[in-house]
Amino acid sequence: MSHPAIVKDNVAVITGGASGIGFAAAAAFARTGMKLCIADVDQPRLAEAATKLSSVAGSGNVMTSAVDVSKVESVMELERAVCARFGGTDILMNNAGIQPGSTLFTGPDNWQRIIGVNMWGIINGSRIFAPGMIARGKPGLIINTGSKQGITTPPGDPAYNVSKAGVKAFTEALQHELRNTRDCRVTAHLLIPGFVFTGLTAKGRTEKPAGAWTPEQTVDFMLRRLEVGDFYILCPDNDVPRSLDEKRMLWAAGDIIENRPPLSR
Ligand code: NAI
Repeated sequence: MSHPAIVKDNVAVITGGASGIGFAAAAAFARTGMKLCIADVDQPRLAEAATKLSSVAGSGNVMTSAVDVSKVESVMELERAVCARFGGTDILMNNAGIQPGSTLFTGPDNWQRIIGVNMWGIINGSRIFAPGMIARGKPGLIINTGSKQGITTPPGDPAYNVSKAGVKAFTEALQHELRNTRDCRVTAHLLIPGFVFTGLTAKGRTEKPAGAWTPEQTVDFMLRRLEVGDFYILCPDNDVPRSLDEKRMLWAAGDIIENRPPLSR
């Protein structure tokens, strides 16, 4: 793990850090001696996660925060709390997400909630943390968790697809802004997981389906891609059956396949 931001005593904040991919990332950062803040709406799970992480990182190096990423005030409070406890943030992983299902005709509350958590959560985190991270003058990372569904927009669950397409577009815009900011050493990255066996995808299954990755495999892949500086961290396709149309869309996203970062203006 040789990215200059992923080093002992640096500070990582992970939203959705109580479970799944977020928890696996927190555990990986803890192993390098980083200070951690895991932020999540699920308070019982947050407490369990903190106990596990403290055994690796030491209890003084782990803080938890009950946060709803869809709410600006809640994320502002998170940023203030991390500053007060650890003095600032070097890595922000905007990862909290939900997939309760939607159709074109489910009500506005369902659409607003999905877009609120998945898309606004990432916008809130990035906009609120970035100024302080840039001001530190150190290498920093903002990692936003998107989805292949934000690229291929397969049939079904349109609100989720829209929210994740927004995450992709926002993270590209964020990278433009960071590159055009004087003395900024913070870079943005878009994590695009494959099929990962977590609470989000388990849907009653207790066994990992063949072909699915574990959250730890996903994080391990992400850390290797961060080391080489990839903007798009597109996880391999596991065994997800994809229609030809979806495959074409992934191939057509030439930037992603070739991992070219978005061009600066
Ligand atoms: P997960 O359900 O294990 O983790 C998501 C976490 O986000 C949970 O701990 C949950 O309590 C938290 N959360 C939900 N709403 C929140 C809110 N309003 N504020 C703060 N925290 C909130 O699921 P998983 O799979 O680890 O998901 C992580 C991210 O990866 C999500 O953004 C998801 O959309 C994305 N993803 C997952 C894939 C998979 O196959 N598991 C595939 C593609 C993307």
